[in-house]
Amino acid sequence: MATATTTDRHMIEGTTNPSALAVAHANFALIKYWGKRDVALNLPDVGSISITLEALWTKTRVTLDTTLADDAFELDGRSDADAARRVSGTLAQMRKMAGVETRARIVSCNNFPTGAGLASSASGFAALVTALDCALSLGLSPARLSELARMGSGSAARSIYGGFAEMQRGGRVDGSDSVAHALHERDFWALEVVIAVSDRRRKAVGSTEGMLRTARTSPFYSAWVENQALDLALARRAIAQRDFEALADVSEASALAMHGLAMSARPGLLYFNATTMECLHRVRALRARGIAVFFTVDAGPQVKAVCLPAHADEVADALADVAGVGEVLRSGLGPGAHCLRSCPELDSEPIA
Ligand code: DP6
Repeated sequence: MATATTTDRHMIEGTTNPSALAVAHANFALIKYWGKRDVALNLPDVGSISITLEALWTKTRVTLDTTLADDAFELDGRSDADAARRVSGTLAQMRKMAGVETRARIVSCNNFPTGAGLASSASGFAALVTALDCALSLGLSPARLSELARMGSGSAARSIYGGFAEMQRGGRVDGSDSVAHALHERDFWALEVVIAVSDRRRKAVGSTEGMLRTARTSPFYSAWVENQALDLALARRAIAQRDFEALADVSEASALAMHGLAMSARPGLLYFNATTMECLHRVRALRARGIAVFFTVDAGPQVKAVCLPAHADEVADALADVAGVGEVLRSGLGPGAHCLRSCPELDSEPIA
């Protein structure tokens, strides 16, 4: 549910600079995206299915400013040249769509560690395109916002939507069908996620580089791509039927296959640490005792345990007890990206 509309565009009082605020929530894939069919357009080689999380978000303010000679980007209170380079393509493209040249000041904050396998690029690009859509009065559809977010980061296409989302691989060369769509709203099935954080540092090999290396060097890459349609169908059906066991089986299989594949790259990619492994065993042990929980892991060591709300306390206690787990985060399912009227975290004036 993206609610970015032209009516959300505002002028900061006393200036003529159009400005907009947006929030987008992180999402985790249950059926993983790993591999690209086109690097320049950032088109995925496989579809994916995700859940969007309430508790992890990026908030972004975009201000168009005629006095700026260049775009300026700040993340969590610091200028960030790497991130600025990463967002420059998105800015150029959306400016062109709006037919304006004005440079933008972008101020962004995450309420969780950046680049540590907690999907900060997903919420980051989804918040950016949503805020730009408002500031530039483009009034784009969720599908077009999803396409723009995907060009920044593949997983960001899914954070445009709340609840359960599916990213299509697509087949067109221009990528216009490589977009995400909503599968179900968040209240369709109240799942909870418990995240065991064992390392807050940035990962050594980012997802983009990891995927490229895997596709280039793993002898198993084509088998991964071929199998994906089956896992997507199984997950779609499990979610539609709210069949926890079926979703657990296919989600764990997809996460382990992705990591097995990444490990089979040359040199192999190791996103797990010892704590990751211990958490996976702990989740499996809980499940064997009848607790409705399963794990997923992205390009970092943090373990995300998806469970039914009735079991979330027990899951959180069990993961907090694992040696090496420094922090346990909890979240229900969240909404899609949308514009905000005010945002205390970015210290902005409320927009009237
Ligand atoms: C392991 O979306 O970060 O989290 O498109 O290169 O920016 P780029 O990659 P990114 O990759 C996410 C990989 C993953 C699995 C997933 O979210 O589906």
